[in-house]
Amino acid sequence: MTRTIAFANQKGGVGKTTTTVNIARAAITDHGLKVLVIDADPQGNATKVLAPEHQGSLDCSLATVLDKAKSTPMSDAIVASEWVGLDVAPAGSDDLADAAQSLVTMKAGRESRLKRAIAEIADRYDLILIDCPPSLDQLPINAFTAADAVVVVAELGQFALDGLDRLLDTIEIIQEYTNSDLKIVATIINDAQQTKRMEHWRSELGSILKQLPVPVPVLDPPVQRATFIAEAQEAGRGLDEWGSAKASVLHQTYVQYLTTILDSMREGEN
Ligand SMILES: Nc1ncnc2c1ncn2[C@@H]1O[C@H](COP(=O)(O)OP(=O)(O)OP(=O)(O)O)[C@@H](O)[C@H]1O
Ligand SMILES: [Mg+2]
Repeated sequence: MTRTIAFANQKGGVGKTTTTVNIARAAITDHGLKVLVIDADPQGNATKVLAPEHQGSLDCSLATVLDKAKSTPMSDAIVASEWVGLDVAPAGSDDLADAAQSLVTMKAGRESRLKRAIAEIADRYDLILIDCPPSLDQLPINAFTAADAVVVVAELGQFALDGLDRLLDTIEIIQEYTNSDLKIVATIINDAQQTKRMEHWRSELGSILKQLPVPVPVLDPPVQRATFIAEAQEAGRGLDEWGSAKASVLHQTYVQYLTTILDSMREGEN
């Protein structure tokens, strides 16, 4: 059974791509899953890390899949990544922003373009991860409509939690209108620092999540700020192959996150 998870927050730079990439790595190395990462961000950061030869405007990409006029089959857009067991649907750069814009004028079915594209190739994968852009437009709406679960990636701090309500409202609307099975399965805190204020913001985050109809767990431990995370990503390397003890420990944290997320998704299905 294929499971599809969207990593989201409309705030920029909170760690959506970092989390998507490291969970994807954990899924292939330790969980032994066949994985597809869909780069649903015109910035193309996941593509840059995982399939650097497929950056920019392409004949086939997520952009041409979603673009009504082109309607490329998803199977034509998918490429092999640098990692065995992991494929990527490259974003297609600014064309993806244009495709998203073109959806706005579609009379019906625009929220389900990605869901339909995924249905075509889902049986090839155990896990499909969607890296959302920092927005709440048609791209995340398509991701939430297509996904079984959302993982909210959040930073902690004075301004970091602003806007979380709007993200949760958007997800609630999707649950009501286009995907009643969608579940917010977890929150992952990224780029945390060990200060007293962090405890305060963590409890603020907890109170926001507590107001939801279904409680959303915050996964422990949070991902700390560490230079090697960005360095490994820039080098296109997994944390497990980075060669430092701290990177290996963090890789195992992502393995554990994925175990928790998949367990929770299975529970929801029973
Ligand atoms: N815990 C961390 N420690 C150090 N650097 C980090 C950490 N998490 C992310 N970064 C770096 O911070 C930058 C932003 O992270 P990332 O691209 O994952 O965020 P994002 O939410 O996907 O951003 P966007 O909204 O632009 O898509 C990247 O350069 C990444 O390597
Ligand atoms: Mg990103």
